[in-house]
Amino acid sequence: MVTEEMLWKDSYLLGHALIDEQHKGLFKAADTLMEALKQVDTREDYTYHIRESLAFLKEYALNHFRYEEAYAFSMGINYDAHMKLHGKLLGNVFHHEKKLMGSNFANSDVKEFLGFFITWLIYHIAEEDQILSKGNIAAGITSPVSDTIRWDEVIEKFADRTCDVFKTVTGLSEKDITRQMKHNTRITPDVCYEVAIIGKVEKVIGYIYSKEIALGAFKVMTSMEVDELNELIYSSLQEISNIISSRFSGIITASGIECDIDTPRRVTVEEIPFTNHRFLTHTKLGSMEVILFDK
Ligand SMILES: [Fe+2]
Repeated sequence: MVTEEMLWKDSYLLGHALIDEQHKGLFKAADTLMEALKQVDTREDYTYHIRESLAFLKEYALNHFRYEEAYAFSMGINYDAHMKLHGKLLGNVFHHEKKLMGSNFANSDVKEFLGFFITWLIYHIAEEDQILSKGNIAAGITSPVSDTIRWDEVIEKFADRTCDVFKTVTGLSEKDITRQMKHNTRITPDVCYEVAIIGKVEKVIGYIYSKEIALGAFKVMTSMEVDELNELIYSSLQEISNIISSRFSGIITASGIECDIDTPRRVTVEEIPFTNHRFLTHTKLGSMEVILFDK
């Protein structure tokens, strides 16, 4: 039984009573699933419990998305891009569900699903839904169309967006997150991801996370203490890399050059070359490194 709200923070409130209530419900559903995961050694009906919690969460998310989209429509808000985010999430949930069924809800697969889902939920509600509720989803795409990309400028903007994503998912304040361009410091490469950019830009973004930032970020996001790197943390970092990369493709698309991102892939640090287009993000939870390189 869930005794307290672990994941919800009042900073996620949008000011729309029913949508806020539904968002709390989604976090609560994730809380229930996390609780179920903790009881893996003590409950005999563990699989049944997880299966039920997941089915509830899926149903709840579907109904909520329908409501949110109907609300945006009734308010005359352009929600096409937002609807795509919902669709992508549901696609991901179905993918995880299939995997979970295949392994009869193996502990590692449940963790992988939860790490992803919690991270997605926090960012979506703390950022994307806020934008939607203000009705300015297309804002920012105003730069003139150009064929040439000034990479130094892009990297500066990208470093800012990376800090923004960290601020949103962790709730840290501005002064606790800084960026460092053209550094010569290497951070301990405990977990690495790469995300390929697809479309007219042939680049790859490499992400290097220290264990410190990986565990620290997860703790402030979920109030859950995890001592070692495991699937919960990996899939949370995978989703953070995915979100940051979507900010990158947003910057490029805003300059009139169409591109999208591929699914993040876990790699070794040797697979990420050291290029001039790189920056560090320092937070009080630890540091991470981002490197842009050619395909
Ligand atoms: Fe939404």
